[in-house]
Amino acid sequence: MKKLFLLLIGCIISYPFFAQVSLPVYLDDSQSIEDRIEDALSRMTLEEKVKMVHAQSKFSSAGVPRLGIPDNWMSDGPHGIRSEVLWDEWNNAGWTNDSCMAFPALTALAASWNPEIAALYGKSIGEEARYRNKNVLLGPGVNIYRTPLNGRNFEYMGEDPFLASAMVVPYIRGVQENGVAACVKHFALNNQETDRHTVNVTVDDRTLYEIYLPAFKAAVHEGEAWAIMGAYNKYKGQWCCQNQYLLNDILRDEWNFDGVVVSDWGGVNNTLHAIYHGLDMEFGTWTDGLTKNKSHAYNYYYLANPFLELLRSGEVKVEELDKKVRNILRLVFRTTMNRNRPWGSFATTEHGEAARRIAEEGIVLLKNENQVLPIDLKKAKKIGVIGENAIKMMTIGGGSSSLKVKYEISPLDGIRNRIGSEAEVLYERGYIGQFEAYQDGIKSPQNLSDSRSEEELFTDAIQLAKEVDYVIFVGGLNKHGGQDCEGADRKSLELPYAQNELISALAKENKNLVVVLISGNAVSMPWIKEVPSLVEAWYCGSEAGNALARVLVGDVNPSGKLPFTFPVKLSDVGAHAVGDYPGTDKEQTYREGIFVGYRWNDKNNIKSLFPFGHGLSYTKFSYGKAIVSNQTMTEDETIIVKIPIKNTGDRPGKEIVQLYVGDVKSSLPRPEKELKAFEKVSLNPGEEKVVEFTIGVNNLQFYDDFRNEWVAEPGKFQVYLAASCEDIKSTVEFELR
Ligand code: GLC
Repeated sequence: MKKLFLLLIGCIISYPFFAQVSLPVYLDDSQSIEDRIEDALSRMTLEEKVKMVHAQSKFSSAGVPRLGIPDNWMSDGPHGIRSEVLWDEWNNAGWTNDSCMAFPALTALAASWNPEIAALYGKSIGEEARYRNKNVLLGPGVNIYRTPLNGRNFEYMGEDPFLASAMVVPYIRGVQENGVAACVKHFALNNQETDRHTVNVTVDDRTLYEIYLPAFKAAVHEGEAWAIMGAYNKYKGQWCCQNQYLLNDILRDEWNFDGVVVSDWGGVNNTLHAIYHGLDMEFGTWTDGLTKNKSHAYNYYYLANPFLELLRSGEVKVEELDKKVRNILRLVFRTTMNRNRPWGSFATTEHGEAARRIAEEGIVLLKNENQVLPIDLKKAKKIGVIGENAIKMMTIGGGSSSLKVKYEISPLDGIRNRIGSEAEVLYERGYIGQFEAYQDGIKSPQNLSDSRSEEELFTDAIQLAKEVDYVIFVGGLNKHGGQDCEGADRKSLELPYAQNELISALAKENKNLVVVLISGNAVSMPWIKEVPSLVEAWYCGSEAGNALARVLVGDVNPSGKLPFTFPVKLSDVGAHAVGDYPGTDKEQTYREGIFVGYRWNDKNNIKSLFPFGHGLSYTKFSYGKAIVSNQTMTEDETIIVKIPIKNTGDRPGKEIVQLYVGDVKSSLPRPEKELKAFEKVSLNPGEEKVVEFTIGVNNLQFYDDFRNEWVAEPGKFQVYLAASCEDIKSTVEFELR
C-alpha cells in the first residue's frame, strides 16, 4: 500500500514534466515565438494556410480549428470598440452587452501634447478590445493633416510628424500591453477622402520620408506595432494594400517590420500583386469599407481560391504563402495564444475617468478676452446654451469609427450636471443641422426634429441671449457625410447651417459670449473679432460634456494646444495654393512638398487664424532666456538647451513648451523651423521650473533624396523655444561641426 501511495505521488509530481515534454512546441508558452511559428507551420495543410490569409467574415479570418489555433478578430476603431456586427454584414448584430466607452477623437489626444495621456488612452482602449476578445484593434490612424477639408482628420494626430510620432507610440504600447495588436493606419498617403479608392498620389521621396512616413516609422520602431493597415489610394501607380515600394522595400526591408500587413476593407484588387507586394491579410474585398456589400464572397477573394489554384499549379511557390502565414502566426502567438495576457475590462468607471481626463487635457482655449472664462458662478445666475452641437450625439456617424456607446454626456448635459444647482441653464437650438445620426444600423435615439422655421430658431436664440448673464454657443461640425466623416471631404472651410450669422448676432446681444466648436477640422471664423472667448472642444466621446463643463467653469485649467493650423482661408494652405488638391483625373501631386501646415506658413510669411501649437490657459506663464550648453557640437555629441518657465498667474496650470530647430543654411530648401521636442510642465502659482531639452544629430537631419539618406550638414542651427509656432519666446544658436 505504501509503495502504491509513493508511486501515485511520484506520478503526480512528475506529470507536469511529462505533460510538458509531450506538448507540441507551438502550444508551449515556454518556447520562443519563432520556434512556435515554425512548428505550427509544419503542421498546417496548404488549404489551412490559405484560409488564414483572407477574411472569413466581415471582421475575422480563420485560425486552424484542427490545431486549436484561434481565429483572428479585428475591430474598429481608434476611439472605441465597435459593436458586434453580423457575420457577413456591416450592420450591428443587436447584441445588448457591447455598448462601449467612447474615448475622445485622436485630434483631441494629439491636442493634449501629453504622451502619458496617450499611454492611458492606449491602455484603456486596449482593455476594452481585450475584454471583447478582439486581437487586432483597427487603429490608431496617423495620416498627416494636409488639407482642412479631409473628412477623416478627426481620426488622426495633426499636421506635424514629430508630434504624431510622439503621441502614437505610447498609444500603441498601451494597447499591446493587453495582448491586443494595434493596427496603425492608413499606410500611406491617405490624406483625403475624395477619390480615396482610386487617387494615385505622387510625392517626392524627401516629402514622403520627412512628412508622411515618420509617424508610421515611429509606430514600427518605437511602438513595435504588431500590425499595419494599407491605405486605399495608390502610390507610384500601385494600390497601397499591395505596394512593392511601401510594403516590401520600406516597411520590410528598410524598417524590418515583423508584424502583419492587413488590407483596408476593399483595398485589394489583384491576386499576384497581393501575393508579391507585401500583403498578409485580405479583408473587405468587394466592399467600400463602409456600406457596399457582396455577400459570402470569401472563397473568391484574391488571396482565396485564386491563390490556392496558383499554389497547386506550382505557378506560385508555397514559400510566398508561408511568409504571410508566419507573420499571421506571430500575431497569434503575441495575442490569442499568449496565455499570460491580461483579461481586459469594458465600459468601466475607470475608462470613463480616463476618457474625461483625455478630453480635459485635449480641449484648447483659443481665445479668452476680458476673462469671460472661466465662468464666474457667483455672477452667472442665468446661462443660455445655444446650438445643435450642445445636444447632438457625436459618437454615432463619421464612418468606421462610429460607436454604440454605454453613454454620451452632451455639452448641455455636462453643463447642467455641473452648474445646474448654482445657476439656471436654459437652452435654445439656434439652428438645425441634421435631425438624426445613423451608422451600421445604429440609429441615434435622439429625435432632433423641430417644427420651427430657421427664422424662428434664430429669433428664439437671440431672445434668450438678451435675457441671460452668459451665452455658451456650442456649434461646429458633425459626423455626417461631407463634414467630419469618412468617405467624403468637406467642400469648404465654412461652418455649415448659417452658424456664422448666428454667432455674430449673439455677439451683439451679449458680451459674455463663449463659442465652443465641436469639430475635428479647422474652420473659418469671420466673426472672430466679435467673439471674446473661443474653445475648440473636439469630439470627446462619452465624457465630452463633463470635460467641457469642468473646463468652462475652471475646475480644470485648459492645457491643450492645436495639433494643426487654423488657416484664415483655404488658399493659405499649401495643398490648395499649389498642391493640386484634390487632384485631377485621379492623379494627385503633393506639389507643396515638405511645406505642410506651419512649414508652409513660415515659407510664405502667412499668418494663421490660430497657429499650430497654440493654446491658452486661465493662468499666465513667463518664459526666461534660453541657454545652450555648447556653441558647437559634432555629429556624435549632443547639445542641452534649457529655459526657465514660471507660472505668474493665480492658479495651477500646465504649459507645453515647444522646441523648434531651423537650419540656417542648407544645400536643399528646408522649413524655417521644425518641431523637434516638447514638454508639458505643471506649475503651481509662482512656481518656476527649468525645462531641459537634449538635441542630437537626428534632430538636425533632413532626407537627401539624391543620396537616399538622412544627412545633417555642418553649419549654424537656430533653436526656437516657443509657446506656439508663431509665439517664439527665446532663441539660441549653435554650430554643427
Ligand atoms: C474602412 C476604413 C478603415 C476601417 C475599415 C474597417 O473603410 O478605411 O479605417 O478600419 O474600413 O471598418
